[in-house]
Amino acid sequence: MKTYINEEVLILNININIEQDYEALSRKAAQIFAKKIKENPTGAFGFATGSSPIGLYKELVRMHKEEGLDFSGITAFNLDEYHPISRTSEHSYYYFMQEHLFRHVNINQGKVNIPDGMAKDTETECCSYEAKIAEAGGIVAQILGIGLNGHIGFNEPGESFEANTRYIPLAEMTLNANAQHFSNPDEMPRHALTMGIRTIMMAKSIILLANGPAKASIMKDAITGAITPLVPASALQLHPSVNVVMDKEAAAFF
Ligand code: GLP
Repeated sequence: MKTYINEEVLILNININIEQDYEALSRKAAQIFAKKIKENPTGAFGFATGSSPIGLYKELVRMHKEEGLDFSGITAFNLDEYHPISRTSEHSYYYFMQEHLFRHVNINQGKVNIPDGMAKDTETECCSYEAKIAEAGGIVAQILGIGLNGHIGFNEPGESFEANTRYIPLAEMTLNANAQHFSNPDEMPRHALTMGIRTIMMAKSIILLANGPAKASIMKDAITGAITPLVPASALQLHPSVNVVMDKEAAAFF
């Protein structure tokens, strides 16, 4: 049942942008994100991996090269990383971020933070990740994609909204969805280090991206359905500042 409270939250806090196609979605998301960087040139910013933000990163690189968008003062925190995986693996999220964004802009590599996929003591790694975010003053704007099962980061259905950065097993659906990126799917790590929902919710603003028809159903559930840990992204309905940027296909049920 759609509740009155949900309607209120939706109207007050979630700004929904429906764009013609993936290129337009990427440009819109880049405009929102670049504005935050300009307003907070020494702030901390949260990045995501997956196919959804690739166009946004391409546009941010263009803005850096052609318009001088300056990354030199910011600190970066990525949402998640597989475990175990080395930074040099082309499947690592560290590698992904370097390929799609970081090595193309003037970010200070010493301020790039991605959970350590080779950490032996995962609990210490997760605690120190939380501490680093706090030391950096909290995340100004967090980019998010969404999994087919509603996961954000690697927070799978059923995880507590109160969770901090932690080590978790991946859901079968996520293993299946992400296996396509591995030449040998058996090499895909079955665990990950991920910011928790609480960590994500602490970001001052959120930009959630979704494109393609496969995301239509889960976007409807996440943004207008019940707020429940069974749909991790539904927690965003409780966040004070969310920009959802979708293409027409992902927004088919809006
Ligand atoms: C992965 C990432 C998520 C991402 C999701 C969706 O599982 N851990 O952060 O949002 O995939 O990926 P895509 O954008 O490729 O659909």
